[in-house]
Amino acid sequence: MRSQQKNQDGRGRSARVLGKFADEARFFKAWVEKPGLTGAVSPSGRFLARMMARYVDPAGVGPVIELGPGTGPVTQALIQRGIAQERLILIEYDAEFCKLLGRRFPRARVIQGDAYDLPGTLAGVLSEPAAAVVSSLPLLNKPDEERVRLLRDAFALMNPAGRFVQFTYGMISPIPRKCKGVEALHFVADGSPAVWLNLPPARVFSYQAVSETAARKVKRADAFIGKLREGADRMKEEIRDRKDKMQSEIRLVTAKARQDLRMRRRKVHSDAKSIPPLALLRKIGEAKRTPKR
Ligand SMILES: C[S@@+](CC[C@H](N)C(=O)[O-])C[C@H]1O[C@@H](n2cnc3c(N)ncnc32)[C@H](O)[C@@H]1O
Repeated sequence: MRSQQKNQDGRGRSARVLGKFADEARFFKAWVEKPGLTGAVSPSGRFLARMMARYVDPAGVGPVIELGPGTGPVTQALIQRGIAQERLILIEYDAEFCKLLGRRFPRARVIQGDAYDLPGTLAGVLSEPAAAVVSSLPLLNKPDEERVRLLRDAFALMNPAGRFVQFTYGMISPIPRKCKGVEALHFVADGSPAVWLNLPPARVFSYQAVSETAARKVKRADAFIGKLREGADRMKEEIRDRKDKMQSEIRLVTAKARQDLRMRRRKVHSDAKSIPPLALLRKIGEAKRTPKR
């Protein structure tokens, strides 16, 4: 029977639907109790979770650290992307979510702790640099300094190719390049297209640490590309203007030619009317007799 068919994760369809509702309810309860900490009324949808996972290279070396996994939709997407559970370190503040994650991902390491204090929470845990840090933390609830500090701490834990991946319900990068009181960080940021099939719609940003020189080069290249785009936009506008102008000129000339034709026709008609019918017949006869040259 169809309802008894099992999916990859070993659960039947109805069990999965029930599980999804249960997750929604758990999440909603957590949000009612601690709205600032939970940061959303429901778990991320699968399209957003997949977009997050897409930024992590499964062939990368070292553990993948997830911050704020909640009920685990992003964790699931990371596993589906090909990252072994054994490589996952899940840092979650909420005790109930931690229990659930432990049951759901028994081979991953679940740590109940504060993800904003990475050095403290991960003290003695890592034996090699991490490949990526994937965060669903509600960053927008935190001041700029704390966001920049989190990114700096995450970069310190990762190998040089490591990426810090973060989703946001805002459309711009949630981590500023500079902020008072924190040493400037040099990184390149890559933003995904908006994920509209999520409630609310969201975007994913991936940050990679670079040297100061590389950051400067990227900035210059971005400015150059920006100027090229501006130039292309201006040219497009100019072409559109010229096209509009030519079209209106053509319309004007055509209208004039039509009017001219109408006036000539009218003149021929009125000339013909002013000649008495007999004289007209005579004229036609003469015209027929006149040999053509
Ligand atoms: C917006 S939810 C995202 C949950 C899940 N990843 C998802 O996409 O549905 C944020 C999660 O971060 C957790 N969280 C918030 N602050 C935290 C902190 N300081 N340390 C660890 N987890 C935290 C919350 O408990 C919640 O599970």
